[in-house]
Amino acid sequence: MKLIVLTAALAAALSARPARAQDQTFSADNGPDSIDVSKYPKDQQEAYKLFAQKCSTCHTLARPINIDYATPAEWDKTVNTMRHKPHAGISEDTAKTIENFLIYDSSVRKKSLLAQKEKAAGSASAAPASPAPSSAASAAAPATTAASTSSSSGAGTKN
Ligand code: HEC
Repeated sequence: MKLIVLTAALAAALSARPARAQDQTFSADNGPDSIDVSKYPKDQQEAYKLFAQKCSTCHTLARPINIDYATPAEWDKTVNTMRHKPHAGISEDTAKTIENFLIYDSSVRKKSLLAQKEKAAGSASAAPASPAPSSAASAAAPATTAASTSSSSGAGTKN
């Protein structure tokens, strides 16, 4: 039985029409073709079903499962590319749900890869990453400062 399946898969791979992108194989295709989502939140379990259904019509589900994509930006780009392929049949809403699932899944299953990528990106975008919170902090600062100065001496603000 297993042998038959394997043989069929091999035959399919070998007879691949090379001009079709769908027939391109990725090493990711050879990895596991499902994710154990039993410990994921309920909504992500639902989203997984959508992902499994929509992202396996043109290629293996193993491809998106095992590819070394992990960051939100990578998933955003990928899901958008896939959604716009002819006959993808993925609505914008569905795409968002799937993208959120992939981002969540990467944060669990590809935790170290994600950390590694964020670190690598960090050296290039350390600036954007830290200024964001600090600009948020400075936006919030006037209110806090005003509140704390009015309740304290206010000595610190006058100079
Ligand atoms: C309409 C067909 C189609 C659907 C549906 C589809 N893909 Fe693809 N996918 C492709 C093709 C074709 C390739 C080969 C590379 C290319 O042409 O972009 C590919 C390649 C990929 C790759 C390999 C790396 C890369 O970025 O090209 C990933 C990852 C991937 N798809 C993820 C997904 C996900 C996630 C979904 C569901 C949201 C999905 N695909 C749905 C056609 C599809």
